[in-house]
This record gives sequence, C-alpha cells and structure tokens, in this order.
Amino acid sequence: MDFHGRVALVTGASGGIGHATATRLAEAGADLALGYAGNAQAAEALAEHIRQMGQRSVTVKGDLADPNQLLTLVDTIEAHLGSIDILISNAGVGTRLPLEAISLEEWELTINVNLRSAFLLAQRVTLGMRERGWGRIVLVSSVAAFTGGIVGPHYAASKAGLIGLMHSLAGSLAPHGVTVNAVAPALIAATGMLPGNADEERALTLRIPVGRLGRPEEVAEVILSFVANPFITGQTLLVDGGIYPR
Ligand SMILES: NC(=O)c1ccc[n+]([C@@H]2O[C@H](COP(=O)([O-])OP(=O)(O)OC[C@H]3O[C@@H](n4cnc5c(N)ncnc54)[C@H](OP(=O)(O)O)[C@@H]3O)[C@@H](O)[C@H]2O)c1
Repeated sequence: MDFHGRVALVTGASGGIGHATATRLAEAGADLALGYAGNAQAAEALAEHIRQMGQRSVTVKGDLADPNQLLTLVDTIEAHLGSIDILISNAGVGTRLPLEAISLEEWELTINVNLRSAFLLAQRVTLGMRERGWGRIVLVSSVAAFTGGIVGPHYAASKAGLIGLMHSLAGSLAPHGVTVNAVAPALIAATGMLPGNADEERALTLRIPVGRLGRPEEVAEVILSFVANPFITGQTLLVDGGIYPR
C-alpha cells in the first residue's frame, strides 16, 4: 500500500475508528484532513503525530449536520492540501433510544449526520475524482443495517441507508476509476459508541461469537484494503466478530 501524493479526508477522526483509520492511511503515505465536531484536542494531537511521520495534515472542525459547514470544510481542505482523493465517511452519532422515545429532532439529527453528510460529501468530492479518474470512498455503516442492532430504529435506518447509497455510487462511479465500498462494524472497544462501563461492555461481549469486543485497528485494516484495491467496489464487509453471518 502506497498512498503517497493522495489526500484523504477522514470524518470523525477525533473518535476511535476514525483515529485508527487516519493513522493507518498516514502510515501508508497519504496526507490527511481530520474532520471533527467538538474534540479539537484529539484531532490536533493526531494531526501533530501525522506531521511528525512526514505527511501533511490539517484538522477541520465542522458540524456535518449542517450542509453549509460541510461544504466549507471541503473548501478549506482543498485550499490547504489540494483535492480529496480518498473519502472515509466515518463520523456518526447514535443515541440509544426505544421507539417511543425518538423525537423528530433525534431522527433528523441521526439521519443528517450519519447518512445525508455521506451523500453530500460524496457528491462534492467525486466531481474532482471523476476528472482525475481516481478516487476511493469508504462509508462506515454498522451491523445495525442488517440486524437492527441495539441503538434504535433511527440509527439502524441511517446505517442501512448508507448501504443503498454505496451501491448507487459504486455503480455510477466505477467507469471513472472511483470505487465505493462500505464497512459494517459492531461493538468496537475504545470508541464513543460504546457505554465505556465495564459491566455493560461485558454483557455486550456475550453477544459476540469470537468472545471479545472489536478493536478500531481491525476496522481500519478493512478500510485500508478497500482503498488499496481498485477491483473491489460495491461491497460491504462486516467487522462484527461473527454476530451476523452472511
Ligand atoms: N464503535 C462501534 O461499536 C461501532 C459499531 C458500528 C458502527 N460504528 C460507526 O463507526 C463510526 C465511528 O464511530 P466510533 O465508533 O469511532 O465512535 P466515536 O469514538 O464516538 O467517534 C464518532 C466521531 O464522529 C464525530 N461526530 C459526531 N457528530 C458529528 C457531527 N455532527 N459532525 C461532525 N462529526 C461528528 C465525533 O466528533 P467529536 O468527537 O469531535 O465530537 C467523533 O470523531 C460511526 O459512524 C459509528 O456509527 C461504530
């Protein structure tokens, strides 16, 4: 894997899976734009680490639920690093709620951050990817897209929507040298998506056939393999310890 000269945007790079993915992309030579919403400290520390590795890196703050902030974020990256070759649409929210407690605001927030932002970012960055005849997009979905999961219907719907988006983009962009794939993790440790409480996490582990939580690096490795391989597009790989055998 050699991504020297490629510019990658990882959204949600201040979180567990995004941090691991951005690190691996930088190790493989890419320059990195690190998207974040609130955790500037984590994003800045990672950018500094990447610069010490010899790659260029900028942090870009923006609420992906806001289309204007999203488009400004891409403009900022292009001004500092150049056109985006690799989009890892990873940022996500998921508040655990039962059906009757999901407000319209919660539904819209979840759909807008998890699904609409992936569509808008892809629509924006593929203009340049098509012109250059090379691009890679990986959407971070969830096992919830297939099983319903434990967060709630708002989250499951947003993650299932990403799979449909991935298939549509993959079909239309394949002739232009742009691949589009999805990864569907489940129960990954050291992320904001898990309760962070040992008892609850032990109970969740009982759901996983391999008998432990996943690691952010194990998701990052799959994302990297999608980026490296020009002959895989339109695929979803579950990184779920065997929860949903297909
Ligand atoms: N962890 C799991 O078990 C698991 C399982 C299945 C799928 N996933 C998916 O994996 C992806 C990464 O999550 P994670 O597990 O690494 O959790 P995480 O540590 O909570 O990271 C979430 C990231 O999303 C960013 N984010 C949240 N709301 C945002 C917004 N409105 N605008 C821009 N960025 C926003 C956060 O930024 P700040 O921290 O800066 O606010 C953070 O960087 C998510 O899409 C999640 O749904 C995770």
